[in-house]
Amino acid sequence: MCGIVGYIGEREAADVLINGLTRLEYRGYDSAGVAIVNGSLEVRKKKGKVKTLSNDLAGNVLRGKLGIGHTRWATHGPPNDINAHPHTASDGSFALVHNGIIENYTSLKERLTNQGYTFSTQTDTEVLVRLIEDVRNSTGLSLGKAIRQALSQVQGTYGIAVVSNDDPDMLIAARKGSPLILGIGDGEYFLGSDAAPIIEYTRKVVYLNDGELIIVRRSGFTVYTVDNIALDKAIHELEWDLEQIEKGGYDHFMLKEIMEQPASIQNAMRGRLFKKAPYVVLGGLFDVIDKLKDADRIIICACGTSWHAALVGEYMIEALARIPVEVEYASEFRYRNPILRKNAAVLVISQSGETADTLAAVKEAQSQGIPVYGICNTVGSTIARETDAGVYLHAGPEIGVASTKAFTAQVTVLAQLALMLSNRRNVLTDKELKNYTKHLLAIPGQIQQVLDGAESILKIAEIYRYANNFLYLGRGPNFPVALEGALKLKEISYVHAEGYPAAEMKHGPIALIDRFMPVVFIAMNDSSYDKVVSNIEEVVARDGNVIAVTDAPVGHLDTLCQHVIRIPTTTELFTPLLSVIPMQLISYYIAVLRGCHVDQPRNLAKSVTVE
Ligand code: AGP
Ligand code: GLU
Repeated sequence: MCGIVGYIGEREAADVLINGLTRLEYRGYDSAGVAIVNGSLEVRKKKGKVKTLSNDLAGNVLRGKLGIGHTRWATHGPPNDINAHPHTASDGSFALVHNGIIENYTSLKERLTNQGYTFSTQTDTEVLVRLIEDVRNSTGLSLGKAIRQALSQVQGTYGIAVVSNDDPDMLIAARKGSPLILGIGDGEYFLGSDAAPIIEYTRKVVYLNDGELIIVRRSGFTVYTVDNIALDKAIHELEWDLEQIEKGGYDHFMLKEIMEQPASIQNAMRGRLFKKAPYVVLGGLFDVIDKLKDADRIIICACGTSWHAALVGEYMIEALARIPVEVEYASEFRYRNPILRKNAAVLVISQSGETADTLAAVKEAQSQGIPVYGICNTVGSTIARETDAGVYLHAGPEIGVASTKAFTAQVTVLAQLALMLSNRRNVLTDKELKNYTKHLLAIPGQIQQVLDGAESILKIAEIYRYANNFLYLGRGPNFPVALEGALKLKEISYVHAEGYPAAEMKHGPIALIDRFMPVVFIAMNDSSYDKVVSNIEEVVARDGNVIAVTDAPVGHLDTLCQHVIRIPTTTELFTPLLSVIPMQLISYYIAVLRGCHVDQPRNLAKSVTVE
């Protein structure tokens, strides 16, 4: 949630900041603002998208070589010009942008109000600004030290960046729970919530850890711990390319990312999957695989789409490796005092690697002495760094708020993990392993076939674009795909949709069915096919409109259902990799036809860094 940028160097800061905010906009987009130092400290902030701010700046240019910027996802106080960041000190001497939540802001505000400080916004962030002022006023400390002391009184999460009119050669940043990266240029530095605003200037970066504060000058930077100890930080090389974070001719990032899936899945398998024994090697888990294989229970924690991928993983790991798996919402895991026995292993899945709830689950398990393994897409992200071991998806940056290629890459990695565990536990025969490997290797080409048929899915979307409710039904490993289909539609089309295991329909949701209700069935020609067809009959008997996604040969389904989307055949456990593609396309086309903002759906943000 929220994007932070900062710049110090010799370029016009406004250009770098606006460029950076545009690239970070997928993290939050209800208002945006910048503060630039140039003799005085000037703040410009506007409700709405970054475009509104950049139009404003185009008409009234802000010059200066030092600045910070913010694109907000409001937590406290509605999105408007006043609540937009940056927030400034009462005397206008410094400005601050913040990502996160100051949880004890009410008590701090009360205390500061009693001391005579006044507040003009409804944000928690302004309380932090006044607190820093108060520390400065009462101690006379330098800004950096005052910030550190103020932060020690704050509960909650923050990523902050600060510039001051008193020192035009200083950019300060600090983090606890919200990501920040410093890009290192030649006599210039770039701050970002992630790599997107940095990559076009430099590949050299330093990742800030929780509890660290950085003071950046044109001549260099120093990172300090909470106790004011200077640290020697490692410099990392970014892996992403600029073109990966651009739309490349597509109307939307989401469509680009849907279309990229043959390649992103290939990348998730590259160098990991072999036609001969040992068939699968996930390098990042190699050293811990024996621990994992002997776990008496694997608990997978994740949120949203990653949680759906985890559910598919549960089917695959239980079936192929015969290890009991439980899937938990990361947000619930931490707060129900989970009982973790010594032999349990925790796996977390996160595209961004920054989701606050998932990170909290990592910490909860680690605090009980349980090893935590991660499956992340974003290299160098907090979860990737905090987990004991893990694997990357290598799906490339995902910018569209609705996750697509990360889901299929997560399922691909989970399939490989299930096979690797299976091999170690001698569950499958060599022939069976070979066969599964063959099926997995064929998936990218099969996804391409589904994508080639996108036109026919667009036609179905045109018919149902005005529907107000949708039901998604599937069984076995396609039950999570039904959930994912419903989530995608809700997220970007704002159409109410529910996903259920097909057999659950008769226990309640069937009451919803009438001639206005489109029902998307995933009816793969596998062990549950006949049962699913019976469920379709039940819907048809009640006048529901059925859209079936199937690999069954032309026949009964075609006469029974209004629409049939045919996808290729693979082994039952890997069908989610194919069946999810029509789900993604249906929601994408319906959203476009309804005029929705596909890449930046209302109220959402790509990376949920608050709890
Ligand atoms: C997916 O379309 C969502 N925007 C959301 O549910 C997302 O999957 C969830 O917030 C988890 O994110 P993560 O994978 O980055 O942890
Ligand atoms: N809590 C702050 C606010 O509501 C920051 C939110 C954000 O991370 O964008 O303004």
